[in-house]
Amino acid sequence: MNILVLNGSPHIDGATVHMINAFTAGARSAGHTVKTINTAFMNIKGCIACEYCHTKGNGECVQKDDMQLIYPDMLSTDMIVFASPIYYFTMSAQLQAVIQRTYSFDIPKNVRKVALILSSGSPFVYGPAITQHFQSIVEYWDVENAGIFTANGAQNKSEEKYRELYDFGRSLTDICFGK
Ligand SMILES: Cc1cc2nc3c(=O)[nH]c(=O)nc-3n(C[C@H](O)[C@H](O)[C@H](O)COP(=O)(O)O)c2cc1C
Repeated sequence: MNILVLNGSPHIDGATVHMINAFTAGARSAGHTVKTINTAFMNIKGCIACEYCHTKGNGECVQKDDMQLIYPDMLSTDMIVFASPIYYFTMSAQLQAVIQRTYSFDIPKNVRKVALILSSGSPFVYGPAITQHFQSIVEYWDVENAGIFTANGAQNKSEEKYRELYDFGRSLTDICFGK
């Protein structure tokens, strides 16, 4: 299975990347191909709601920024993992910009599974990221929710979280539930 990780953290050695690295190692050990895109270092603007994509553009976005590098991967991959630090109770603005720019193509037709990785300072801060955002995408895209993984405070960068995310990656199969 081809897996695309969309990382919304600007910390290249941060807590979110620690979980991504563990997930990637586990998934690769099970034979999957994993590609991570660090969205926080890219030039990705917010959607300008011009509707070019839905009129003249035939699904193509009028804004020629770094989102053009992400569109092909999102449209071809089997699974997308959203990974982000919690910023004010939800995913980072950098990752949200990517998600909102999918407006042009609507649903990534090849994606069958999605997962969510979140890091925060405090516990109990995940509500909007999980329910309003992630779960809504799961239902709108009609894909399998493969799992939600969080780490806060002392759990960040811990051996326990590394093992949890490694085991999750290693457990993934091509079989899709709930589609
Ligand atoms: C702008 C900003 C907003 C944040 N908002 C929250 C928050 O609402 N709740 C929380 O628990 N932590 C919050 N944090 C802390 C980060 O979620 C936390 O430090 C996280 O582990 C960072 O992950 P990273 O190392 O991958 O960047 C915030 C940090 C920043 C920079």
